[in-house]
Amino acid sequence: MKLTEEQVAEFEEEGYLFLPGCYSAAEVAVLRDEVPRVFAQRRKEVWRERDGEAVRTAFAAHHYNEAFRRLGAHPRLIGPVMQLLDGPVYIHQYKVNGKAAFDGDVWQWHQDYGTWARDDLMPEPRAMNVAMFLDDVTEFNGALMFIPRSHKQGKLEAGHDLLTTSYPLWTLDKATVARLAAEGGMVAPKGPAGSVLLFHCNLVHASPANISPWDRTIVYISACHVDNHIRQFKRDEWIAHRDFTPIEVLRDDCLLELAREDA
Ligand code: SIN
Ligand code: MN
Repeated sequence: MKLTEEQVAEFEEEGYLFLPGCYSAAEVAVLRDEVPRVFAQRRKEVWRERDGEAVRTAFAAHHYNEAFRRLGAHPRLIGPVMQLLDGPVYIHQYKVNGKAAFDGDVWQWHQDYGTWARDDLMPEPRAMNVAMFLDDVTEFNGALMFIPRSHKQGKLEAGHDLLTTSYPLWTLDKATVARLAAEGGMVAPKGPAGSVLLFHCNLVHASPANISPWDRTIVYISACHVDNHIRQFKRDEWIAHRDFTPIEVLRDDCLLELAREDA
């Protein structure tokens, strides 16, 4: 899949691009059916909320689940990413974020590059996220919030928050978020399962707790230009990958093909 010039310009200006309904219900089902199986595993990659039960995120699911492996090389996700980053990319981080009904906790205000630069010594913000909704994302179930155009501010001052949630994150202070929101406002892209969201690694974002009775599962693939690979290996390799092999995209029908094979 190739983005139009207008879409590229919108990404560069706003810091994100929302593509509702990119995947069919049948394709979503291939992945969604795997989520309970992945989340049920008691393995180090499956990170739980502070309650020790609800799954916050399943890291590196592309390494132990075939459907998620295929998604990590899917042309409708990786094609636009290679176009925006202008070259071959590898997967720096892979997350299936649960944001469970009633129990899914907040993600504080942050920039992803803030963590990748400080913890992993990623040289430049030549990396980004592509997200795919596996559930409908609504105003109720903890939609991701963006401050448009905040990616133009570069890497901002941040503090290492080890307490607020079960997962350490470099987060922004209230004054910074208030200043940026006064300038850029705020958006929360909502849409059906199968929608795709691309966003710049310096875009300021967060999400509230999910107190609704509906899960909000989103897959996040953080891709980095191969020349810009991380230089420090402080975090576990299943959180910040060390295999910088360029992704080779699979066929567009690879998810449906898996469903046919399993039938
Ligand atoms: C993230 O910022 O990496 C995840 C946010 C979310 O899933 O709401
Ligand atoms: Mn993030």
